[in-house]
Amino acid sequence: MPDQTETRTIEWIGGVDGFVRLIDQTRLPGELVFRECRTVEEVWEAIRSLRVRGAPAIGIAAAMGALLGLHQHVAEGPVALGERLREASARLRTSRPTAVNLFWALARVERSLKQATESGCSGDKLVSRLLDEAREIGEEDRRVCLAIGDSGAHLVGEGCGVLTHCNAGALATADYGTALAVLYRAAENGRRFKVYADETRPLLQGARLTAWELQRRGIDVTLICDNMAAQVMKEGRVQLVIVGADRIAANGDTANKIGTYGVAVLARAHGIPFYVAAPASTFDLSLADGSAIPIEQRDPREVTHGFGKATAPEGVSVYNPAFDVTPATLIEALITEVGVIRPVNEEMIRGMIGLRDQTEQ
Ligand code: MRU
Repeated sequence: MPDQTETRTIEWIGGVDGFVRLIDQTRLPGELVFRECRTVEEVWEAIRSLRVRGAPAIGIAAAMGALLGLHQHVAEGPVALGERLREASARLRTSRPTAVNLFWALARVERSLKQATESGCSGDKLVSRLLDEAREIGEEDRRVCLAIGDSGAHLVGEGCGVLTHCNAGALATADYGTALAVLYRAAENGRRFKVYADETRPLLQGARLTAWELQRRGIDVTLICDNMAAQVMKEGRVQLVIVGADRIAANGDTANKIGTYGVAVLARAHGIPFYVAAPASTFDLSLADGSAIPIEQRDPREVTHGFGKATAPEGVSVYNPAFDVTPATLIEALITEVGVIRPVNEEMIRGMIGLRDQTEQ
């Protein structure tokens, strides 16, 4: 097991005048390199270019990023500080549209600003309070991911094959992950199983990140191309699918990395349970269903020039949505820190997540 303190996905280094340090995931698996971000713009760029990615990690990055440079303006007073923070938040909100954790985390920091200023807090103390909140978003995510792992570990049967798509692991969160936390906890409980990791075109999060982190943590992982999943299922190698989520609507429709919907359809066709693991912060109960989830469209060159090499004729039309929405009807259960939600429907979701969500707003 690698030293996790050495490989923290994201953290704030230092005091109010500190900076954000994150693993530059665009350099994996070749190099484990950390990137230091000292301005809001540098964090915006890190999120946009997927140096830091995965819904919970994006939220943590945004919460911390919004505070960069804020201490330089303490002399301007709490009103001006608030304005600067809201400006930074507004900018970071434009970095990526689909993962709701980004918006959730920024709203939480802004709420903390309101509470702190109302209680008369100002100057360095105010920035320090906001920094505590951003750090707590990260620490809480670590605890929540462990709890997700504990909720779902029993679903991984002895000797089974598990298929996952994209990366919903430690790299996508403060630690452990969501889908992969279930696997880490099952392994810690002594379960033996085999993981099939979809490579996840076009940016290869499965090949570059999931295969890398599972291998480092001693989990038996086999990499497959996305178009091999049907065959692997037909051969009887997969007994369950677990993926993460970027946004879950009130009825359970789930946005996750492009290709997830196809995997869910395949799982249904082969009678294999399809699970989604996610924290409460990934639920968006303001959306009745998945049709209103914004789907990020990305640069066509990710498809035509993956990792530098031209693999398509110059000038060809490309459609490159980064996410798709899996209908709730294809999801066997949602694995969360408050337990397993089954069946997946609005009543069950509001019953388990709703109350918590209201207190969070
Ligand atoms: O584009 P990415 O790499 O940010 O997409 C990530 C995913 O789709 C993950 O499955 C999701 O964010 C869950 S991470 C726990």
